[in-house]
Amino acid sequence: MENQEKPKALIVIFGATGDLAKRKLFPSIYRLYQNGKIGEDFAVVGIGRRSWSNELFHTNVRNSLGDDVSGKEAEAFVSHFYYHPFDVSDSSSYENLGTLLNNLESEYRTEGNRIFYLAMAPQFFGTIANNLKKHNLKSETGWSRLVIEKPFGHDFESAKQLNDQITSAFDENQIYRIDHYLGKEMVKNIEVIRFANGIFEHLWNNRFIANVQITSSESLGVEDRANYYDLSGATRDMVQNHMLQMVTLLAMEPPINLNPEEIRSEKIKILRALRTIDEKNIDDYFVRGQYGPDKMHGRKLRGYQEEAEELQNSDTETYVAGKIMIDNYRWAGVPFYIRTGKRLAEKCTKIVVEFEDIPLNLYQEEQSEKSPNLLVINIQPNEGVTLYLNAKKPGVSSYSEPIKLSYTHEAVNSVNTPEAYEKLLHDCMIGDTTNFSHWDEVSLSWKFVDRILNRWSKEEPDFPNYAAGSMGPEEADNLLKNDGFHWWPVNNEEE
Ligand code: BG6
Repeated sequence: MENQEKPKALIVIFGATGDLAKRKLFPSIYRLYQNGKIGEDFAVVGIGRRSWSNELFHTNVRNSLGDDVSGKEAEAFVSHFYYHPFDVSDSSSYENLGTLLNNLESEYRTEGNRIFYLAMAPQFFGTIANNLKKHNLKSETGWSRLVIEKPFGHDFESAKQLNDQITSAFDENQIYRIDHYLGKEMVKNIEVIRFANGIFEHLWNNRFIANVQITSSESLGVEDRANYYDLSGATRDMVQNHMLQMVTLLAMEPPINLNPEEIRSEKIKILRALRTIDEKNIDDYFVRGQYGPDKMHGRKLRGYQEEAEELQNSDTETYVAGKIMIDNYRWAGVPFYIRTGKRLAEKCTKIVVEFEDIPLNLYQEEQSEKSPNLLVINIQPNEGVTLYLNAKKPGVSSYSEPIKLSYTHEAVNSVNTPEAYEKLLHDCMIGDTTNFSHWDEVSLSWKFVDRILNRWSKEEPDFPNYAAGSMGPEEADNLLKNDGFHWWPVNNEEE
């Protein structure tokens, strides 16, 4: 990893007229610029099929920054942006791009450092990577890095094919596969909370933890992504990447140091220890769902199949819940429950670690629910940590009641947590691969979810099976009920 105060680079964004560039990439680069994380020695080349002018590109970049950014500051920023119309399969496009990059390199003193960010349809990833190599666009003087957005394949086989294509042009250590959850402040914090606190780490095993629950719920439906989403579904869209990444961070052994290789090797051991579920037993471990119509917040919401014409009769899952078992010494017997879905009651990503209850609570009021200690890691929208303890109910009784100790970032004035993409772009510029997915992680995750998807593909589901605005199908509750547990609420008001 380079130790550069203000890294210098040319950032070439393939798909610069798209949604991701507008919503995430331009604003993130702006924040890096505004916060002094990058200086003046950078330029961004936006690549797209449309024949935009530089002026039109500048207007789009400026608009993406929101109303608060205007005047000289905005002008100075957008002057670093260049648009380059492009046909990904045409050789001359790459040659012209090469000339442009050489010119910008000397103008912006970027020392030959180049980031190629592929934020476009995945079927072009391989072609672009190979053409970049073939036309000598990989830098000879500085470093070259290839950033790849998801989806990285559709299953293990297609992911492997894609990986073979890109690794024939770029080395693994030049490839930065994005999983934007790894850029989230509180996902990064999982490691720190675990490994920097004796009171947790000493108890972080199957003797003291009863189960772990990871929820990533979304209140939005499929929006305008029906084409992509219907081929993907919640398992490919969220479980193969984000959810399994969170599982590995929660379950891994402490790394011997913070080098990307050491952390990765611990994460990979967890993926290798995931219980291989026999296809015939998948229903005991995984539940799928699709939302039907309902009302939420007084609005009438359509079911998934009514969201777009092509979704009629779709059997794509918009929800998945699962019980993941990690068959190693530390975790044998502890279920890691995950659930994620669209059009659920609220937008929230939260981890609940439920500690084993004490054998006998003399202070528990008769018939009251057990209240085991919980550690709740709030990933979004509120970032923070809450610890549930039991303490004496104030007053004359000697009963206990749950109390909570909460910390939220928002409550601390000086904390301004960076957007995930801002962090990831910066990591890429300084050559830190920790928060990107290595091929070994991607391939193991695909192998895990492929078994589930294979089994599901053989049986037509009874969809829709949960109402928009609910927390998913009843079967997902049964997964936990059968083990004597229940989902802890994710209601944001609770924390
Ligand atoms: C993306 C998925 O990777 O993550 C989307 O493709 C999903 O379908 C999104 O909405 C959720 O991300 P976040 O950061 O909003 O939780």
